[in-house]
Amino acid sequence: MSQSSSPRSHFEGNGHSSNGHSLPSQTQVFDIASIPEIKIPPRVLMGAGPSASYPEALRAMGANTLGHLDPEFLGIMSNVGTMLRRVFKTENPITGAIPGTGTAGMEAALCNLIEPGDEVLALVFGYFSNRMRQMAERMGAVLTVVERPWGTAFTPEEVETALKGMKRPKVVMVVHAETSTGILQPIDEIARIAHEHGALVVADAVTSLAGCPLLTDEWDIDVVFSGTQKCIGAPPGLAPITFNPRAMDAIRNRKVPVQSWYLDMSLVETYWGDQGSGGRAYHYTAPSNALFGLHEALRMTLIEGLENRHARHEMHSTAVMAGLQTLGLDPFAQEGFRLWQINSVKVPQGIDDQMVRTRLLKDYNIEIGAGLGPVKGQIWRVGVMGYSANRSNVLLLLSAMEDILADLGHKVEQGRATEAAQNIYHDYDRQKKAKEAPIRLETQHNEDNVGESIPSESVAQGVAHQD
Ligand SMILES: Cc1ncc(COP(=O)(O)O)c(C=O)c1O
Repeated sequence: MSQSSSPRSHFEGNGHSSNGHSLPSQTQVFDIASIPEIKIPPRVLMGAGPSASYPEALRAMGANTLGHLDPEFLGIMSNVGTMLRRVFKTENPITGAIPGTGTAGMEAALCNLIEPGDEVLALVFGYFSNRMRQMAERMGAVLTVVERPWGTAFTPEEVETALKGMKRPKVVMVVHAETSTGILQPIDEIARIAHEHGALVVADAVTSLAGCPLLTDEWDIDVVFSGTQKCIGAPPGLAPITFNPRAMDAIRNRKVPVQSWYLDMSLVETYWGDQGSGGRAYHYTAPSNALFGLHEALRMTLIEGLENRHARHEMHSTAVMAGLQTLGLDPFAQEGFRLWQINSVKVPQGIDDQMVRTRLLKDYNIEIGAGLGPVKGQIWRVGVMGYSANRSNVLLLLSAMEDILADLGHKVEQGRATEAAQNIYHDYDRQKKAKEAPIRLETQHNEDNVGESIPSESVAQGVAHQD
């Protein structure tokens, strides 16, 4: 076989175009010395995600890579599944983490359940619920779309009315924690109503998993997907997901195969679940180092305990909101449906949203979230999630915000924001002390812990370095 150019000249350029004119050779202009080693700046991640990763997760990701069928790796994968079941609060055998970010989880959930022509209900009340609608549309769903103003949540009655107007609804898509607005959408009632109408429920828990209560089995949610980079505390790159037996039956009884070979759960399950066949079949090369990171972040989550994690989010949310409100930043999300993990506030009149965020980043290394779509420039989203949810971050942000807003001419009372947050922390500290006093000598038992026993020293570290 003749070859017109060596592989080297093919990729690096031979200095001639097809019409014979001279072109600058890429080998001449490219100098690897011009590309510096990356130096990652420090950042306080208090935006809509990612949040900071646990040092334990980052350290584990730097270990040597393992093959996807290495017995050591299979053990790690199996423990990831076990811990994910604890965090999702489910017994579903088909529970694992798909390579890709939260959107890959969304794609996997929807492409497995939806066949062209299926009737699907989209509950749209923000950016991510709209992304689900767009995906289902591309998959050939016959959509019924109900919309709510951004910053509000659906009532069960609205969902019921929509379902009554459909012939044979197959899937109801709902976002549990709408990151774009800071709304917590209750999904237990929605699931009950959906099942009464014979529909499956897919819930987006990208921001809710490990952030606030999410009871997959108790609420009977058929498919729940998430991401690693929010309340779990691992870097972005994996999408935890769980399918219940009802959802797996629907997948096995499809009329046409799932269009995506990669995400087809009937194939993925042969690798994830050792279905009594005595082995796992290769489906794709598992991203082993990313899974090491998730393993450690999940371990840290369960050492802390899910309820403690939720309580920590609630406390820091209460503190940050108290501080932001003294700066004249009003809450955006509907009262009674506010997330702890994502605190959305209105940008005050006359203040340039972009300028504030740029200064936070440049002067303080702090990232907060901007408004998306229809609320662009109108809201800020302050995340207190996972490893990022701690007092020093909250107090630093409030002090920085106070400084920047005052400099931009916004009326603030010096020191009030951090004082308001500190008052909240002091209240929590007093309550905690009062609760702890009578049980000081008792053995602590944490029902979310996995593994045989976790040394009390790790438990102390897990919680102490977070508070
Ligand atoms: C609620 C929600 N759903 C889906 C996504 C998409 O996840 P990712 O950006 O990890 O793909 C996000 C990301 O922020 C989200 O907050």
